[in-house]
Parts: sequence; structure tokens; C-alpha cells
Amino acid sequence: MNCAARRSSPLDLDLLGAAEVDQLRAALAGVDYTVDAVTGLLGSEAQAALMRDATVPGLRATDAEQVAGTPLATLTRLWPLQAPIAAGDAERALPGLVGPLVAAGMLSRDGDLVRALVDVRPYGDDDHDWWVACDLTPGLDGSDRRVASDHVLGVSAASTTLAQLALRTPVDRALDLGTGCGVQSLHLAAHADTVVATDVNPRALAMARLTASLSQQPVDLRDGSLWQPVAGETYDLVVTNPPFVISPATGERLVYRDSGLPGDEAVRRIVTGAPAHLTPGGWCQVLANWVHGRGQSWAERVGGWLTDGGCDAWVVQREVLDPAAYVEMWLADAGLVGHPQWSSRYDAWLTWLDAAGVEAVGMGWLCLRRADGADPVLRIEDWPYGIEQPVGPEVAAWGSRVDVLSGLGDGELLASRLVRAADVVQETYGAPGAADPARIVLRRGRGVRRAREVDTVAAALVGVCDGELSLAQVLDALAELLGHDPAVLRADYPEIIRGLVEEGWLGW
Ligand SMILES: C[S@@+](CC[C@H](N)C(=O)[O-])C[C@H]1O[C@@H](n2cnc3c(N)ncnc32)[C@H](O)[C@@H]1O
Repeated sequence: MNCAARRSSPLDLDLLGAAEVDQLRAALAGVDYTVDAVTGLLGSEAQAALMRDATVPGLRATDAEQVAGTPLATLTRLWPLQAPIAAGDAERALPGLVGPLVAAGMLSRDGDLVRALVDVRPYGDDDHDWWVACDLTPGLDGSDRRVASDHVLGVSAASTTLAQLALRTPVDRALDLGTGCGVQSLHLAAHADTVVATDVNPRALAMARLTASLSQQPVDLRDGSLWQPVAGETYDLVVTNPPFVISPATGERLVYRDSGLPGDEAVRRIVTGAPAHLTPGGWCQVLANWVHGRGQSWAERVGGWLTDGGCDAWVVQREVLDPAAYVEMWLADAGLVGHPQWSSRYDAWLTWLDAAGVEAVGMGWLCLRRADGADPVLRIEDWPYGIEQPVGPEVAAWGSRVDVLSGLGDGELLASRLVRAADVVQETYGAPGAADPARIVLRRGRGVRRAREVDTVAAALVGVCDGELSLAQVLDALAELLGHDPAVLRADYPEIIRGLVEEGWLGW
């Protein structure tokens, strides 16, 4: 069953020498082909339309009298908007480069018109302007969304989620497993001395190489599957947005999303293989989908991958889809809406999921840290609500809090003078006019923006903690105030306080 609409355009980026890449970078930088400038040129409405794959507002914005024919407008029309441009405009925007880019398969020339065959996008963070080379976004303006099996995805919503999840502390060695267009490597190169990036798709490796050289970020690119290209090596940070789609692994494979392994086996192999590739204290951060097996708790299934590796792990399930919704999402992603094979593919996929006992699919992330402590901490939770972005700093903070807690006996904990996080607020629920609330919920405005139902003692304790009194003193005072036995509070509350500290409600 082959649904791929196209073959990828032939690409030979080796034909672009270092001098030509330097020339291309100079041309892009010279006309300020950056995220800010392109966004400024397009304006917010056209930018939003382009995010919805509609180019007309952008074509109008770049054809306005004041900007039409400027190199920045030309490059924006050529790449993000995928419009044919006049050869003369192309030459002015990319002096001396149209011929070499045509030879390398990045542009095509037909008479007086030049078109993009490969995308070159401005990309950046607060401190950097970079460029990303990838395949053209399919489906603009309602055109055919189907892509070739070796399609190299550009910066997607998942790329951004992973980039925001990743820890950004300086490290020696970082690994970008399944690099695609090389977007994660750009971020990693900003805080890692050495970046290794892997992929099984030669086209992706070629794009990632161009991304890295255009952005002048050194990346060691390697061909190979999962952990094989880094056998015997360890890293301080591994980030991966692997091909995690849960499918029968039969028929056509879109390599950017299908691992070729059934179910969530690719994610399981990544997660179980990670500990051997981490330095002590090193992190592996994985974006993933996982199976909810019939009659099985998803947390037990995913937790089962994590118990033997000697890693602390924090797993967050952000969304759950039933099989039909899941299959529809990925069939649409493959451009099969309205295609004659929609129904047969849908049916075959559902049949496979049913036979494999898949009741639903969970989507989220796993963060593992190689722990040196005897008792690794495993935190697995559902949190489908809005979180603060980037969430990476909260992951790092969780790791630090777990470290502090693991070195602290209950006696030392009770002697601590903790401080409530500045972002904590309390909500109470109850019947109108009732003297006491029926429920007390604490909320944090930062990090994963948690909510936690607490009892009166815990709420009062969090309220009182301003670093003045030790926890033991606070508990004793609350026992007297609320009519409890102080010994009981001292015995019962350390566990609850540990939870509050781990989640960042209280700290030092
Ligand atoms: C979803 S894309 C992620 C690309 C990029 N890292 C990002 O964050 O946008 C997954 C990438 O994994 C690659 N891939 C597929 N199977 C792989 C495997 N077995 N081992 C390593 N990489 C693989 C694909 O070619 C693709 O580039």
C-alpha cells in the first residue's frame, strides 16, 4: 500500500562547497533574513495565516509597494511562501548563488522563474539568529499534503515543545537523537561543548549539515539507528523527538514519524537504552507517545521501562487520544484527508490497534536523569493543563529538589525553615455562607502551574512558611491551634511536606 504522492526532489548538498555556504550565509545575514525581520515584513495577520498554511496575506504583504522586489521580500516569497520569483530578483537577493543552488537541488529554474525545492527558514532564540534547511512545508493553500517517505520535517510544534523542555545548563557533551533538520542541535550547540546528532535518513543528515554550517554551529553528524551510532559513548544531555507514531509498522513508512517498529517499541528502546549513555547526573529528555494497553495502567507500563536503569525519572502525560482520534490525526498529517485510501487505511490501523490491545494513546514527555543515589525517584503523572514555557528550568529545579530531599532524613526535614514559593495562591470551595471550606486547593502560577488539593493543616503550613520557624515549630503551633496531637502531625506530615517540596510549593 503506497500512498506517498511524490518522490523527494534529488538533493546533492555536497555540491555546495564551504565557500558557497559562506556566501549563502552572508547573503541571508546581509538582507536581515531573520525571524524578527520576516515577522515584521509579514505582519501579525499574514504570519498567523502562514501558520495556518495560507499564503495569500503574506503574498500581499510582500508585494506592497514599499517592499516589493527588496531582497528580504524576495527571500520571504521564495522560501516561507513558496512562490515562484523572477530570476532577476533571485539573483539580486542571492548574488552568484542561483546556479549553485539549482545544481545542488535546492532551487529549480524554469525560464525566468525560480522556485524553492528545499526550504531555508530563519530561526532563533532570544540570543541567536540561525537558519534551518528542511523540506518544503506541504499543503500550503490546500495543496496536496502528501510527502515522500524521506521527507525532512521543518521546525514543528513538537520541535518547539522539545526545545522548551530541554535543559539549558552548560554541558560538555550533548546528543540530538533523530536530528531531522538539525533544529535541536542548534540549541544544544549554544550550551554544549560537543554536539553529536544522529539520523537514519541521509536526506535529514544532509539538511542538518547545511543547517549547522549556515548557522556556524559545529555538529558531529552520524548515520544510524537509535543508540547504535553512539555505542559505548556517554552524554551529559540527550534530547530526542523520535519517530514515535504508534502504528502497525507495515506499509509505507514516513521516516520522520514512523520508526518501523511496532507500537511504542522505539520509545521503549530509547528509554531503556538511555541509562547506559548518560554520564552520572546526565539527562535524557524524550518526547513520546505510548500505548494504553487494555486492562493495564499506562503509568505501570511506562514505569516498567524506568525501574531498572538507575535513573530518576519524571514522566508527564499531556494528552490522551482514543484510537479513532489518534488514527485520524496521523492520517491527516500524512495528507490522506479526502484520499481514496482514507477509509481502508483508517480501518486497517484501527484493526491493528484493536488486535494489539491498544485502548488509547498517551502523549507527553519523559525526563530521565542518571542518579547516583540508591533509590531513584520515579514520578509519573497526568497533567493536561497549560504550563509555563520554557518548562526546562522547572525540570532542572525538580532534579535539584529531588537531590536535596534524598539527602534529608525526616528529623533534618522537620528542622528546616522552608519558604513558600512566591507564586502560590489558595482557592477554597464550599457552599455559599459555609463557615469552613469543603475543599482547599493550592495553585502555582509558575513551572507546570500545578494545582494540589490540601487539608487544613497543609494549607496553613504552606501559608505560614516564610523561613522564620522550623517545620517542627510550625507543626506544633498548628497542632495547638487546630486541636491535633503534635506527635501525630510530626509523624504524618513529613511525607506530605516532601511532596510539597518536590513540587516546588516550599523550598529553602
Ligand atoms: C520527528 S523527527 C524530529 C526531528 C527534530 N529532532 C525535531 O525535533 O524536529 C524524527 C527524526 O528521527 C529520525 N529517525 C527515524 N527513525 C530513526 C531511528 N531509528 N534512529 C534515529 N533517528 C531516526 C527521522 O529521520 C527524523 O529526522
